[in-house]
Parts: sequence; structure tokens; C-alpha cells
Amino acid sequence: MGQTFTAPKGMIDLLGSGAAAWERAQTVAREVFARYGYAPIYTPLVEYTEVFARGIGEATDVVGKEMYSFEDRGGRGLSLRPENTAGVVRAAIDAHLTDNGGGAKLYYAGPMFRYERPQKGRQRQFYQIGAEALGFAAPMADAEMILMLWDFFCTLGLPAERMRLLLNSMGDGDCRPAWRDEVAAFIRNHAHELCEDCVRRADTNPLRAFDCKNESCRAVFEGAPPLTGALCDDCARHFAQVRALLDAAGLDYVLDPTLVRGLDYYTRTVFEIQVDDGLGSQNAIGGGGRYDGLFEQLGGRPTPGIGFAIGFERSLLAMEAAGVDAPGEGTATVYVAVAGTGAGLREAAFALVTRLRAAGIAAVTDLTNRSLKAQFKQADRAGARFVAVMGDDEQARGGVTLRNMDSKREEFVLADDIVSALFALSPDLSAQAKNPTR
Ligand code: HAM
Repeated sequence: MGQTFTAPKGMIDLLGSGAAAWERAQTVAREVFARYGYAPIYTPLVEYTEVFARGIGEATDVVGKEMYSFEDRGGRGLSLRPENTAGVVRAAIDAHLTDNGGGAKLYYAGPMFRYERPQKGRQRQFYQIGAEALGFAAPMADAEMILMLWDFFCTLGLPAERMRLLLNSMGDGDCRPAWRDEVAAFIRNHAHELCEDCVRRADTNPLRAFDCKNESCRAVFEGAPPLTGALCDDCARHFAQVRALLDAAGLDYVLDPTLVRGLDYYTRTVFEIQVDDGLGSQNAIGGGGRYDGLFEQLGGRPTPGIGFAIGFERSLLAMEAAGVDAPGEGTATVYVAVAGTGAGLREAAFALVTRLRAAGIAAVTDLTNRSLKAQFKQADRAGARFVAVMGDDEQARGGVTLRNMDSKREEFVLADDIVSALFALSPDLSAQAKNPTR
């Protein structure tokens, strides 16, 4: 045997139940987001580095330290996408999606890349599901976005009492600069109590200091001047309306004046959903906010935008910690087992799975000549609810012995009747067969 390889550091193979869970998360997203009027968008996994540098901000950790950047053969700077908001806005500008004033609601799902120090819930290639509403300035768009995020997690199965919604407003070009200066002054005054990174941020990007993971820095920053009191009238009104809409919808939130998020494009509303169990310091399972200046930053016309992204791996860890069943590896409803060596037996089993699949029922059979015992094991692993046993005797009678794996009941069924027998035994199967994506 030759040399073997692992996946690159910080990157994992999604297989078995992990892959099934990723597919289910996407199905839940598709179904939930469709109810809010969202359509899918697929953008490249790489963009010109400039798109991220200008969109996310040169002084952020994501752009400054975490991007996988390289030159293509023509010498143009490209980067693997560390997130997808900048790419979606770039695509919307390119395709004039919002030029008619109607707005666009888009969602995506796929891998993102950040060169971070890997730890639980933090990888270098990770999966996000995100949504962006482009061209909507009203507070109602903010409230709808937050409700949709909450709806996603609830539909996925995370108990509401395990999640905490944090909310803040970061102001805009009118009120933020003065606050930024105040925070920079605060950092300088407390330089002796803060880490080197925070002190350096006074000059580069003072608001990032709110994100410092250092416990002692965080304690100092509890005394930092909050923006909330210094919001301009427009921002204050906008924020009050968002809160009123969430109150009316009955969604609880925690106002957190230190929530500034790690990307520079945010204006006004920012939000994050955190969980307490299972994740340690990487406890944000999703977050987002408004970015009313991003279109212009990327050369487009002034256009408001708001969105969020969900971290798939962290959501899965949160589900596990909450004891919510992630979907198993189940891939088949019926396992057709071969019990005998008679001529044509395997071919008859093959014909039967073909017939079941044509009726919309997930069915597998053994392709490797395993023993009956091994086939039953495989049926278990595949999550089969029924095993159709085909032996020499059954073949002679033109049917199978159908075993219900839950009740353990068995009955002989003619091959011609097997589809209707299965539908009669489990009515949900018939609904599923008519609507195979569910
Ligand atoms: P973000 O907060 O950087 O926002 O990422 C969103 C989520 O992705 C995080 O809450 C976290 O669950 C997950 N995540 C981030 N980095 C990692 C990592 N290294 N490993 C595992 N999971 C990770 C954004 O990306 C924005 N684009 C969200 C947005 C959309 N804002 C407006 N529209």
C-alpha cells in the first residue's frame, strides 16, 4: 500500500450522518426561505481579492489574516471566498438585479474558507447557509430577516429556549465616526489594561476591539462608551421600529451594545444567535446585519441590503448538545435481501428494486454477494423500514416475504402487489413517493 493522506488541516470530509445533516439543513433552508419569497443564487467559490478587500474591509481579521489568496496564471489576485455577502452583492451589481427598484431576495449554501486556528466549531473550510435581501431599506426588512433566521433554527429542530438572539445597532456614516473616535480614545486611556492587539486597533479599527476574545479585555470593554445612546435620529428611529416589530411578533431578544460583528460593511441593525451548550467560545451559530453602503463600496448604485449567514457545523454541534436527533444515515426505505442461490434470484431482486424506485420508493439490494446475515446488517445501517426477503421458495411463488423492521411482522406479498402493500402499510410512504424531495 502506498502513502495515504488526510484532508488539509482545518478541513473535514462530510460523510455519513454529517453529509445527510448538511443535505437536510439545505432542504429546511429551501423550504423555510421559500415561504419568505427567496430564490437561490450560486456565485463562484473565488472572487477577485479586491471584492473582499473593499467589501469586508482591509482592517478586518478576515481580510487581513484569514484569506486564502493566490494569483491566477494571468497574475490577477484571487481569493477563496471567506463569506458570501460581498460575492452576492458583486453579482447583483453585475446583473443589474436591483436596478428596477423591485429588490431581490436571494439565498445560498456552500463552503467558505478562512485560515483560522482550527478548534471545535471553527474550521478553515466550513459550510454556511445565507440569505441576502437587496434593495429594502425599511425596518420591516430587518425584522423579517431576523424572524426568518429564527424560523430556520426552530424548523431544524433547535429548541427556542436553547437559543439567544442578540441585537444591536451600529449606526451609519452620520453617527458612527464620532463614536469610533470615542472608542479609540477609550482604548488609549485603558491601554495598560488591554492586550497589544486591542491597543493597536485604536489606530486601525477601534470597533474590532469589542470582538477581542481575551477575558480581561472584554471586562474592560464593558465600560466602553455604547453607540446606542449616540445614534443619530434616523438610526435611532430605524432601530426602535425594528424592535417594535420583533416585540409585536413575540420574539425575545437581548440588546447587546458590544455586538459589533467581525466585518466592516455593517450599518445599523446587527444580530447574532448564540447557544450556551456544546460550543465553548465559538457559540454564534448564525448572524448578520444591514449593509447599506456595500453596493457603493463595490462600485454599484446606492442600494440598501441586509442578510445573515448560518454556520452549519456549529448548528450541528448545538443540535447534538440539545439532544436533538440529527438525521441518521438512512438512505433506503426497503432493503431487498437475497436468501438463496437459485438461478436468476439476484436478477429478480434487481428487477424488484427497479420497480420500487420507479414507484418513488427508496430501495437497495446487495451488489456484493453477502450472506443473509450481512444483508440484514446492511439493511439496518441503511435505516430500512422494510426488508423484502427473496428466497428460492418466494421466487417460485412469484413474490417476497415482507418484514416490517419495527413491528417484526412478516407476510408474503406477490411481486405485483408490493408497491400497493407498502403504501397500505405506511401511508407517509405514499405521500413521500408523490413528493420525493420531502
Ligand atoms: P459571520 O459572522 O462571519 O458572518 O459568519 C456567520 C456564521 O458562520 C458564524 O456565526 C459561524 O456560525 C459561522 N462561521 C464563521 N467562521 C467559521 C469558521 N471558521 N468555522 C466554522 N463556522 C464558522 C458572515 O459570514 C456574513 N456574511 C453574514 C451576513 C450575511 N451578513 C449579512 N449578510
